[in-house]
Amino acid sequence: MNIPPKGNQSQGPAIHVQGLEKSYKELRVLRGVDLDVARGSIFALLGSNGAGKTTVVRILSTLLKADAGTARVNGFDVATQAADVRESISLTGQFAAVDEILTGRENLVLVARLRHLKDPGAIADGLLRRFSLTEAGARRAATYSGGMRRRLDIAMSLIGNPPVIFLDEPTTGLDPEARIEVWQAVKELAQGGTTVLLTTQYLEEAEQLADRIAILHQGRIIVDGTLAELKQLLPPAKVEYVEKQPSLEDVFFAVVGNTGEGDRDGDVDKGSQDRTTTSNRK
Ligand SMILES: Nc1ncnc2c1ncn2[C@@H]1O[C@H](COP(=O)(O)OP(=O)(O)OP(=O)(O)O)[C@@H](O)[C@H]1O
Ligand SMILES: [Mg+2]
Repeated sequence: MNIPPKGNQSQGPAIHVQGLEKSYKELRVLRGVDLDVARGSIFALLGSNGAGKTTVVRILSTLLKADAGTARVNGFDVATQAADVRESISLTGQFAAVDEILTGRENLVLVARLRHLKDPGAIADGLLRRFSLTEAGARRAATYSGGMRRRLDIAMSLIGNPPVIFLDEPTTGLDPEARIEVWQAVKELAQGGTTVLLTTQYLEEAEQLADRIAILHQGRIIVDGTLAELKQLLPPAKVEYVEKQPSLEDVFFAVVGNTGEGDRDGDVDKGSQDRTTTSNRK
């Protein structure tokens, strides 16, 4: 008999998924998803609306049961060792889960208390500092901008230092500045050794953050690799350039000649209409 190993902080991938399937009635959302996420890395799961990204995250965080396949998080089986998985993870859902009536600081203190940690106030203050929310800490979360709320949400999910964190579309709806702030926070997490699995619809986000990128499409991972590996799947960069309509200056010089000595080659017509040229460059 094969006895599954107990969860281990240092061996094996942080997340291992094999043959995951999930249907909602007739809708076959996951049709055999396989993926591995190395410890301390950032893994981006890309896919269009309805591809099944949130479904994967919900299964990995034990909120939803798969129909088939296996998934291990931090060495624990999501189906048979759900409590151990929950101890190992935090989930920042697609929609911010902060309590708007409480202040930012109160939100953090509440989570620290719920996790039975010592000195919730100090933990809250440390996280407020880390996420540049110290000044806003005493304000009700209802008054926060989308970016501040998202940062608070992520800060809340870090309480207790879980080794694996799931971020479901952490920057959807944020403006570019707020997005960069969240990216910075995520990068710092991974630098500190936390494994991050994030879902996103933004290719740029995956490019900026992820050590590995997987694309979920029609229920399966159709591509999985580093950014460099993914780029190699495409033909060499295609450079497309369009010749612009000549400016008055161009016409002038064509007519009079650059040297002011009159028409040298008589080619006034050169470049006088839009032309699109496509070439493949190495
Ligand atoms: N509880 C449910 N009951 C029925 N269908 C569901 C349920 N949850 C999700 N679905 C369907 O499963 C598919 C995958 O949904 P999921 O939320 O996993 O996609 P997603 O990739 O996270 O999409 P988005 O980018 O919009 O967040 C969708 O077609 C969705 O409508
Ligand atoms: Mg989703």
